[in-house]
Order: sequence, then structure tokens, then C-alpha cells
Amino acid sequence: MPFTPSNLAQAKEIIARYPAAKSALLPLLHLAQDQDGWVSPAAMEEVAELLGLTPVQVLGACSFYTMFKREPVGRMVVSVCTNVSCLVNGGPELLAALEERHLDDDDVFVEEVECLAACDLAPVMQVNYDFHGPLDADRADAVIAEYARGVRALRTVSGSRLDVEHAEGR
Ligand code: FES
Repeated sequence: MPFTPSNLAQAKEIIARYPAAKSALLPLLHLAQDQDGWVSPAAMEEVAELLGLTPVQVLGACSFYTMFKREPVGRMVVSVCTNVSCLVNGGPELLAALEERHLDDDDVFVEEVECLAACDLAPVMQVNYDFHGPLDADRADAVIAEYARGVRALRTVSGSRLDVEHAEGR
């Protein structure tokens, strides 16, 4: 959906910080994702128009950076590492358990990721880019539940703590 008036004003303020408008591409994609929970094709078109880029250029950036989601992901992105340190400490088992437990959970999107550079905590999980580890499936689910209940402060799905107006229904 288009930027809300408040987020559009924030987008213009962000663009004004840069000598060239196109330099604001990544911050605007974060803003769009924080508003809607993902970066929709319509959002990419609006960002392109604001920055004087083509929608394909914006799609190129979106598809290059894994933190930008091109499908709805719910309120929580749970990223589980299965690289070497996590692999030998139960990362794949943690991933499989969380994928199964949250298969029909619209609030939680479970994804496999490469090394998160927190190998000393293996196996590691991030919830909206906040680190947790070492974990087994039950402990990981307890952490996710704490975010869901508001016991832990949840970042946006972009990992930012921007003061963003969320789209209706989010
Ligand atoms: S291998 Fe998992 S954080 Fe490095």
C-alpha cells in the first residue's frame, strides 16, 4: 500500500539528508517494510518514483538483500542459523522444530540463514534481528512467546526501532 501521510513525510525527510535522492533507497525500503510488514510491488513502484529510479532497479536491491521480504511475513521473522558452529550444535534440529511448530502461524515466519556471526552462542536464532542462543526448541519457543506477549520489546521486521506508522490491519 502507499506510504501513509506520516510515513511519506518521513520518507521525504530521509531523502533530503542525501546529496543524491537514490542514496536513500535502502532507508526507504526499510520504511516501506516497517509500514506494511513486507515490500510489495506497489511499494517498490512508489519508492522508485520518489527516488527517480525504475521499479526494476528497486526490485534489484530488494532481491539482493535478504532482510527485505517480498512476501508478507507476519510480525516476527525468526532466523535460525545452520552454518558450521550451529550445524554441530543442533541448528538444523532447531530449525526443523520451529518450522513445524509455526507452520500455520501467521505471526511467525521461520527462515534458515547463513552464519550470523554469533557462533559462540550456537545454535543461534534471531527474532527481528535480536540475537538469542544457545537454544533448544522449547527455549526458542519460550523466547518467541515472550515477544508475542510483549514481555520483550519487538523490533520491526526490518530490525529497526523506527517510529513508523503501521498500515491498517498490521
Ligand atoms: S555458525 Fe551460526 S552464528 Fe556462526
